[in-house]
Amino acid sequence: MTEYVKLVIGEETYKLPVIEGSEGEKAIDILKLRQKTGYITFDPGYANTGSCKSAITFMNGERGILRYRGIPIEVLAEESSFREVAYLLVNGVLPTQKEINRFSVLLNDHSLVHEDMRTFFENFPRMSHPMGILSSMVNALRSFYPYLHQDAEEEINITVTRLLSKIRTMAAMSYKMSRGHKVVYPRPDLSYCANFLNMMFDTPVRPYEIDKEVVRALSVFWVLHADHEQNASAATVRNVGSARTNLYACISAGVSTLWGPLHGGANQAVIEMLDAVVKNDISAKHLVEKAKDKNDPFRLAGFGHRIYKTYDPRARIMKQMCDAVLEKFQTSDPLLDVAKELEEFALQDDYFVSHHLYPNVDFYSGIVLRAIGIPTNMFTVMFAIGRLPGWIAQWKESMEDPNLRISRPRQVYIGPKETEYIPVGEREMNIDK
Ligand code: CMC
Repeated sequence: MTEYVKLVIGEETYKLPVIEGSEGEKAIDILKLRQKTGYITFDPGYANTGSCKSAITFMNGERGILRYRGIPIEVLAEESSFREVAYLLVNGVLPTQKEINRFSVLLNDHSLVHEDMRTFFENFPRMSHPMGILSSMVNALRSFYPYLHQDAEEEINITVTRLLSKIRTMAAMSYKMSRGHKVVYPRPDLSYCANFLNMMFDTPVRPYEIDKEVVRALSVFWVLHADHEQNASAATVRNVGSARTNLYACISAGVSTLWGPLHGGANQAVIEMLDAVVKNDISAKHLVEKAKDKNDPFRLAGFGHRIYKTYDPRARIMKQMCDAVLEKFQTSDPLLDVAKELEEFALQDDYFVSHHLYPNVDFYSGIVLRAIGIPTNMFTVMFAIGRLPGWIAQWKESMEDPNLRISRPRQVYIGPKETEYIPVGEREMNIDK
């Protein structure tokens, strides 16, 4: 039986249907609200707005739960690999052995980047941020690999595999180019993660030694980033896609959104913040006080989340990984000590407690990346490679939705009412004489 809520406006009562998700989350269906009442809803930042029905990722921010296609993130981080998780997200089910083998063959087949694209890389100014380069290059893929106009499903599958495979080649290429080093090509004998590390770090004078534990750490890092339901970049991918824009352009827009310091750019911001703490000997107390000061725009990078009002489950795994990776290299990182001290201090502070501000995935991720040799300006690119399967899955799901309409929010207009046009010669000067 359909549940309804009643909305009373003046003398009129309207019945609005309630829809319920598989985990019991309820939403008031306002599809006919404006048509019936003349009213719209007002929800800047969309904190109370469900923009779609989705079967990809489940999050419960109060209980710190994250599941991809129903499987808990802790299990996937422990048992699975990034390649398998990418398949799971995009196709909806875990692959059989045969399917994963086929997927690996396709990822290998599509791993090269068109040689003409190298000219683009070469012509970016040396100081360009890798996220700007990545976003441009992903968009440029559309010109190099236009749709085939064959069987639509096959066409989509090829485009998806092409993107998943080429993104790591392009990321590694941009790093090599930025250093003025020779580009390293993908190798057919290496796994997805090992291949990326080799393309990043192999040089003619120092061959890169692939270490199983480092490969594993990278795989877990990417598994943790693979999807996060309707976050800003995924919502952007869906938004752009709603205009039926091609997939490359949708993903390029997702990369641009992720770049922001409130989203994926936070992993770079955290390391820069921790670095400044170490260099300038700033105390945890000072930093926390600064973050609480409403007259100061500073926020503690890597803390807080729109959905999680408890510890981010990804941050818990990432923190453990920091210790494991540093132990493997038998080294320490002063930034990890500062991060742990900062966390301890913040979690005892009344403001942080009452605002439910906990470390998010970005708080410890940079320390893992530093340990495996990734330079700071590539951190958000690492996030982007990890998030790609999620963006693709979100895009695919929206395209398969028979009720998909172009995204077009409304607004509450607060500008001038109808105003007279004054010819230029009759306008008064607005500036002080
Ligand atoms: N430091 C200090 N205060 C904070 C912080 C922080 N990191 N985050 C939120 N607050 C306060 C904020 O000032 C506000 O206080 P009040 O209600 O007294 O005005 C309250 O907490 C709610 O903040 P909000 O900005 O309304 O929350 P939001 O859901 O719009 O923003 C956020 C979420 C992640 C953008 C925000 O917590 C933030 O800016 N964090 C730092 C950047 C960061 O780490 N981003 C990575 C997010 S996780 C990975 C990803 O999604 O990419």
